[in-house]
Amino acid sequence: MKVQPPVKVSQEKITFDVSEIEAILQPPPMDVKPFKPRSVLLKNRDGETKTMLVRAAKLEEAKPLLKIIQEKFLQFDKLEDVPDFYDIVGARVYAEILGWYRHRLKDVYTIVGLCDGELTAFCNGRLMNEEINISLHTMAFDRGFRAGAAMYFIKCQYCFDDLDQDEFWSTFESYNGWKRWGFGMAQPSYPWPDLQHELGGAKVYYITKKYWETSIKNYLTQMYDIKVDLNVSEELLAKNEVLRLPGE
Ligand SMILES: CC(C)(COP(=O)(O)OP(=O)(O)OC[C@H]1O[C@@H](n2cnc3c(N)ncnc32)[C@H](O)[C@@H]1OP(=O)(O)O)[C@@H](O)C(=O)NCCC(=O)NCCS
Repeated sequence: MKVQPPVKVSQEKITFDVSEIEAILQPPPMDVKPFKPRSVLLKNRDGETKTMLVRAAKLEEAKPLLKIIQEKFLQFDKLEDVPDFYDIVGARVYAEILGWYRHRLKDVYTIVGLCDGELTAFCNGRLMNEEINISLHTMAFDRGFRAGAAMYFIKCQYCFDDLDQDEFWSTFESYNGWKRWGFGMAQPSYPWPDLQHELGGAKVYYITKKYWETSIKNYLTQMYDIKVDLNVSEELLAKNEVLRLPGE
């Protein structure tokens, strides 16, 4: 749009430094406690086990994460072969990883689950404000070990135990996600369409701090007989220092 200035001006053009524009487009981050690594001994239906280290993803790991999602879930000639809503979740996760990498998501946290360095699961979320934590996505790359169940639980743990927030808001695109956490954790939802989740305007399912304390804290152990260990050895950290994509 252009409108003639109503006053005599000394400069017809004013230029901006892009770093000044960036300061407006990229709001200042909140002071958020970093995610402390933890581990889970995963167990599948047959009783096989493996240890998954869960740690914050490093910014440079955005590239391999984008690569695996693109190759596995977003190639158009393979789209029909992608099961269980991994395609729409993959596309949204791809955008979220870019949002993290390019600083276009507010107070996002990006967490990976690694078994001997191999990417086993992923989850992310963001802080809407000091009280509300928004769950974005959870993905399991190795199926059957309840790695996804553990990652979502760990997001709740980060929200309530580490950050001392009041509520955790989710929505579910897939049957597996809804079954695991919406139904599996008996989560209530807010009236809809009055309140909508930022992922496509779907229903907001929520966990309060009180519900976490009274029930959800026991979810992983009660449902899958697995526990999160907050004491992580240097050896386990070292084994999972470098992220490796499955099959590499
Ligand atoms: C939702 C999700 C993260 C759950 O991961 P998970 O807890 O590790 O569980 P899995 O998906 O491996 O297994 C789910 C169920 O599928 C079955 N299953 C087991 N092995 C499987 C395999 N190799 N392949 C497919 N399904 C399998 C089992 O019935 C299992 O249930 P059980 O553990 O209660 O016995 C995962 O299904 C996923 O990444 N889905 C795509 C992305 C998505 O939907 N994210 C959530 C958005 S709402």
